Amino acid sequence: MATPLLHIDQLTVRFGAAEVVRQVSLDIHPGEKLALVGESGSGKTVMAQAVLRLNREVNYQGRIELDGVGDVLSLSERALRGVRGRDAAMIFQEPMTALNPL
Ligand SMILES: Nc1ncnc2c1ncn2[C@@H]1O[C@H](COP(=O)(O)OP(=O)(O)OP(=O)(O)O)[C@@H](O)[C@H]1O
Ligand SMILES: [Mg+2]
Repeated sequence: MATPLLHIDQLTVRFGAAEVVRQVSLDIHPGEKLALVGESGSGKTVMAQAVLRLNREVNYQGRIELDGVGDVLSLSERALRGVRGRDAAMIFQEPMTALNPL
């Protein structure tokens, strides 16, 4: 199969001693959609934020490869600023503030 647009390999995310995402792996190929389902607090948002490294006070382990960008977890902050909004973007959780209703 072709290179995935997003390849996450054994992603673990910790806030201090709290491990909130544990060894998650997934691929998204061109044309695919992926829905992540889980109870509140199970780490869906933290995992999505990892793709753009939006959380600062956090420790990441694993690999997150974006097609054409490489391993997000080893990019410089400067390089990341060029990726956010161009190669990957996030619509935040509160639709009435994240999506302008007008
Ligand atoms: N900045 C942070 N510092 C410490 N812990 C955090 C931080 N952000 C999230 N967490 C913790 O990480 C865990 C996962 O939270 P997350 O927001 O990813 O859950 P979720 O699956 O998106 O939940 P929901 O369905 O309510 O949106 C929770 O235990 C949360 O308290
Ligand atoms: Mg959430």
